[in-house]
Amino acid sequence: MLDQPSHTPFTGPLLQVRDLTLHYRTRQGDVRAVDGVTFSLGRGQVLGLVGESGCGKTSLGMGLLKLLPSNARLVRGEIIFDGQDLAPLNDAQMRRYRWRRIAMIFQAAMNALDPVYRVGEQILEAMEAHAWPGIEDGPAGQKRRQAREKVKELFRLVGLDPELMDRYPHELSGGMRQRAVIAMSLACRPDLVIADEPTTALDVIVQERILRELKSIQKELGLSLLYITHDVAVVAEVADQVGVMYAGQLVELGDTPQVFHQPMHPYTAGLLASFPSIRGEKRPLAALPGEPPSLVAPPSGCRFHPRCPRATKECRQEVPPVVGQGNAWAACWHPLGAAQP
Ligand SMILES: Nc1ncnc2c1ncn2[C@@H]1O[C@H](COP(=O)(O)OP(=O)(O)OP(=O)(O)O)[C@@H](O)[C@H]1O
Ligand code: SF4
Ligand SMILES: [Mg+2]
Repeated sequence: MLDQPSHTPFTGPLLQVRDLTLHYRTRQGDVRAVDGVTFSLGRGQVLGLVGESGCGKTSLGMGLLKLLPSNARLVRGEIIFDGQDLAPLNDAQMRRYRWRRIAMIFQAAMNALDPVYRVGEQILEAMEAHAWPGIEDGPAGQKRRQAREKVKELFRLVGLDPELMDRYPHELSGGMRQRAVIAMSLACRPDLVIADEPTTALDVIVQERILRELKSIQKELGLSLLYITHDVAVVAEVADQVGVMYAGQLVELGDTPQVFHQPMHPYTAGLLASFPSIRGEKRPLAALPGEPPSLVAPPSGCRFHPRCPRATKECRQEVPPVVGQGNAWAACWHPLGAAQP
């Protein structure tokens, strides 16, 4: 599949991640932030990735773009994007993919806009740095004017008045800044957007409105979206498929309605019980006593066993098998519902 000649368009899933494993070196030992993660994402599809704080969601998102701190190490795995494995590529080669093909909306991105530049200027600069994608070739001034029109279109698309292009970040509300960051991520017309908690810092009403808009933009542009959040209620609103991460591993993955109505993994069931709806009040993880484990020395067998009400000796000793049911799978010795290993 990967050896197709270059003139043949690659028709497989846009993104196939296989056995992705990423560690951080620390004085205490290696933090196993992403461990053996495998999933794929189709063209025009939305995959929601959920899990508690510290389970490795951001590390996975950054790992896909290989935007990693110096103490991180991609231990093994493949990141096959549009038929090309990104894992072995160096930084210069990765630059051809970042922004142009895969854009990222970083966690707390709305605070990441440079306060001394006007918002539109920052987007134009990013476009210029990537050789003006989607802009006809011509004299510099003409390209800039064309790009400015494009940015205005993008502002309208994300529900912002184009006049706001000429404002400084501090002159915009949190919701407006977040919309500007979304517009920026779309400026190079990427095929895939990785959105890391893009609405978490906003109040619920703004969050809901932006989510709805993001979903309609995603449909209109045919984007693939990897949507990272700790909030399962948000995933229910945007995602076709949902992946549940626990302690660096993907423990359940499947079509959103199926995972929501018939979770197989006890951790998924606990998460769902704690997030009644996007509007509802969040409850503590009542069904899940205890804390997520250390990723330097994670528990043996199933990493969830110290907190799992269904844990047995088997769970403590052996890595759980993957069991499938309908359009979902879970890694568990004693899954909920009908499926049994
Ligand atoms: N640069 C780093 N060096 C060492 N450990 C790190 C580094 N970055 C993250 N970690 C650790 O890796 C694990 C995963 O972190 P990550 O930020 O990916 O989690 P997350 O799921 O995105 O959490 P949150 O929901 O709080 O954003 C955590 O244990 C974290 O402490
Ligand atoms: S493998 Fe065992 S401990 Fe892990 S989630 Fe399943 S039942 Fe619980
Ligand atoms: Mg994070």
